[in-house]
Amino acid sequence: MTALPTLVMDPFSIKLDLEEGVMHDAKNHLVRCASDMRGYYVDKAALEELIAEGNDPVHYEVFETPVPQAYGHLMYCVSRLHPGKVGDEFFMTKGHYHSIVGTAEVYLCLRGEGYMLMKTSEGRCKSEPMSRGKMVYVPPCWAHRSINTGREPLVSFCVYPAEAGHNYGDIAQEGFPRRIFERKGQCVIE
Ligand code: F6R
Ligand code: ZN
Repeated sequence: MTALPTLVMDPFSIKLDLEEGVMHDAKNHLVRCASDMRGYYVDKAALEELIAEGNDPVHYEVFETPVPQAYGHLMYCVSRLHPGKVGDEFFMTKGHYHSIVGTAEVYLCLRGEGYMLMKTSEGRCKSEPMSRGKMVYVPPCWAHRSINTGREPLVSFCVYPAEAGHNYGDIAQEGFPRRIFERKGQCVIE
């Protein structure tokens, strides 16, 4: 059997710190700060205050050591979303569809408390609670965003087809039909 050139590579392993929720020696470390989140929260003034007064705090990080973005490979990463709120709204990731929309993703939560919020382009919306040991299956065609409702980082190990790609534009325009707030000390999905 002759393997496609994109499939020819040697096996490797990676060390994760499951307590801290980081990937050691990750080749890519993407950091999103509060100022990267303009346009995503209801309370725009609260976000500007956070940026000004909190010295533009880190919102979330993604650690990855890439594999070829080709059919047959699996991409994997650690997503680490810090705790906090913008006004009453809990910190969240931007969220995206996959560019190849028919590709799924598995999130295994390693630490923290929160939700995975998912929606289709037809407007269906679902949420799944996340906590250590919980696996969330994001089916093909569902945009997905994680939300940290706890007091420590919400950390997940994610795996998806390496060719999937990320489409941020559509969900940035559409938004998610639901948001998660803290109201009178309670976590509320509205
Ligand atoms: C990859 C994936 C996650 C997110 C990460 C950051 O397909 O879903 O690794 O990329 O949680 O969220 P976004 O990409 O929405 O900024
Ligand atoms: Zn994804």
